[in-house]
Amino acid sequence: MNKLKNKPIGQIVAENLTAAKVFESHGMDFCCHGTQTLENACKDHHIAITQIEAELSALSQLTSQDHSNVSVMELNELTHHIVTAHHVYTKKMLPVIAKHLDTVVEVHGVNHPTLFDIRKNFVSLRKELEPHLEKEEKSIFPYIDALATNISLPSVDFYKISQPIILLEQEHENAGRIFDDINNLAQGYKPPADVCNTYRLVLRELQELEQDLHLHIAKENYLLFPKAIKCELERLQKC
Ligand SMILES: [Fe+2]
Ligand SMILES: [Fe+2]
Repeated sequence: MNKLKNKPIGQIVAENLTAAKVFESHGMDFCCHGTQTLENACKDHHIAITQIEAELSALSQLTSQDHSNVSVMELNELTHHIVTAHHVYTKKMLPVIAKHLDTVVEVHGVNHPTLFDIRKNFVSLRKELEPHLEKEEKSIFPYIDALATNISLPSVDFYKISQPIILLEQEHENAGRIFDDINNLAQGYKPPADVCNTYRLVLRELQELEQDLHLHIAKENYLLFPKAIKCELERLQKC
């Protein structure tokens, strides 16, 4: 467990996705600030590292979940997994949540004016995420798949994969920041006492989408992208 001390928390999650629950329960951002070591993250959050280590250790006793083997997937398996496990869900939920938010703003907006700000942030989130997913699926992931399977590379508008990755990581950070704002505005997604079921539902949908986005981003930032950069370098060295 000592070796975890200097490990980035994003990498800890990428290697064992069940660790996300531990970091989330202490408000530690393993997603866009996942390059922080466990030791530094604990210091920032005034939590004893021994406590987090104990919680992580307890996790390893649990049965592994379906996504726990992502760290050993080949690149093309990983892109397929990310699309089927996260992109499909995100693309399905963005319009569903938008519709539910419109309903609750109409019904509860007068008594709960922060709903207007939540909706405004959600519109920004959607504008950030939809073209991002499209770009990954249409351009970046096919290039990564070609790298992985050693077939000829598709024509792309970048010289090296690290170039679009910088931009994709920036977009992850933007989306993460917008979701932080939504989480704060929604006071951690706790429904007020006087609200209808649609209000409760949309808070739960937002919370689930945020949790899924954190895992999705961790898999890309700390597994897929570093592996793709390494694979491209190895391929170039062979030429
Ligand atoms: Fe993605
Ligand atoms: Fe992404």
